[in-house]
Amino acid sequence: MRIIVGVSGGIAAYKAAIVVSSLVQRGHQVQILMTDGATKFVQPLTFEALSGRPVGILVTDQPAGPISHVKLGQWAEVLAIVPATLGIMSRLALGQPSDLLSLTYMSYRGPVVIAPAMEPKMWLHPRTQEHAAKLSADDTQIVGPVAGHVASGDEGVGRLVDPDFLVRAIEHATAPKALSGIQVLVTGGATWEHFDPVRAITNPSTGRMGFEMAQEAAFLGARVTYVHGPRAADFGTLHPAVTAIPVVSAQEMRQAVWDIVGSVSIVVAAAAVSDFRPVASAKQKLHKSDITGHWEVTANPDILAELGQEYGGNKFLVGFAAETDNVVASAQSKLAAKRLDVIVANPVGASLGFGNYEHRGQIIDRFGGTAVINEGSKEFSAQQIWKRLVELYSQEQ
Ligand code: C5P
Repeated sequence: MRIIVGVSGGIAAYKAAIVVSSLVQRGHQVQILMTDGATKFVQPLTFEALSGRPVGILVTDQPAGPISHVKLGQWAEVLAIVPATLGIMSRLALGQPSDLLSLTYMSYRGPVVIAPAMEPKMWLHPRTQEHAAKLSADDTQIVGPVAGHVASGDEGVGRLVDPDFLVRAIEHATAPKALSGIQVLVTGGATWEHFDPVRAITNPSTGRMGFEMAQEAAFLGARVTYVHGPRAADFGTLHPAVTAIPVVSAQEMRQAVWDIVGSVSIVVAAAAVSDFRPVASAKQKLHKSDITGHWEVTANPDILAELGQEYGGNKFLVGFAAETDNVVASAQSKLAAKRLDVIVANPVGASLGFGNYEHRGQIIDRFGGTAVINEGSKEFSAQQIWKRLVELYSQEQ
């Protein structure tokens, strides 16, 4: 894609370098426009090196030749501002261009993504909120800010969203919102079945796949409920359309799922639910001397199979099957047994699947169709999986 990244003068300007580097690595062409203030934080040379193009700052600068603001406005497919200070937001909202960035904004017609970053008090000021509301009304997508630590030492809503999240927001800015208006439920992560507060049955799932499936659905326009096991949501900024519900055990996950499933159309079960739980769970830590060496366990409910019983053929149900052998055949029998629409078959082993960022697999549907998931990050897998799910879902409607 051809992307203008505007950088305005805040402390978070250095994070724009990470965003630009990542966009370039992902094959995009990036033109940087900086405000004068931004150049006090990061040298234009940094951005010229990362983007391979001259940086534009003043209204008289010509990084794309004469009348650069018009040429760039026509050239760009997305205009992103990272970070957006109060100053640039007010210039855009009021239509008062005083630098090449705001001038180009006026001549550009297309998707705009703005990532504000400022002191929480400034962000919450009524004038700032008025500018943000005006920009939103113009179809500008305002991404963040998020809560956390800010440079003054304060805590509050004012931090720039994570660079990874911004890259995805920019990439999705031109994509059709294929899941717009659709409610999706995603489960993710391992469940923990405690014997006592410090001992549990669990498994090596990190929850990354479920997290990426939830995020991607939200970027495609869905409203997502993401029910996840411990630590399965610590992968960066959560999309605002995702409501995360943390649980610990399979029984808690089952309860959370049944609480919400009535209002969703699509269920994606990516959780690695523990098959067993202890019959008894102590409130206090057990002393080693009290442990006999035999734990009594009982089978956990199969959450997805129960959903299949109730909703199979009615709601669109997607399972994941992590297998070490007979990957496709095992996945196919689970698809039939649990009355699913689709199952994603993942080979797992020492160097693939669980806990690894890299992922590959196959998408098998109930009509016997298969599609390959090309190897790559779990983010890339989630994109490929949702692309296929959207096709299959729309065929069934
Ligand atoms: O563990 P199994 O291979 O049967 O998991 C297949 C699918 O069923 C996965 O989508 C998983 O999230 C779901 N599952 C579940 N509850 C269980 C076990 C599995 O929802 N107790």
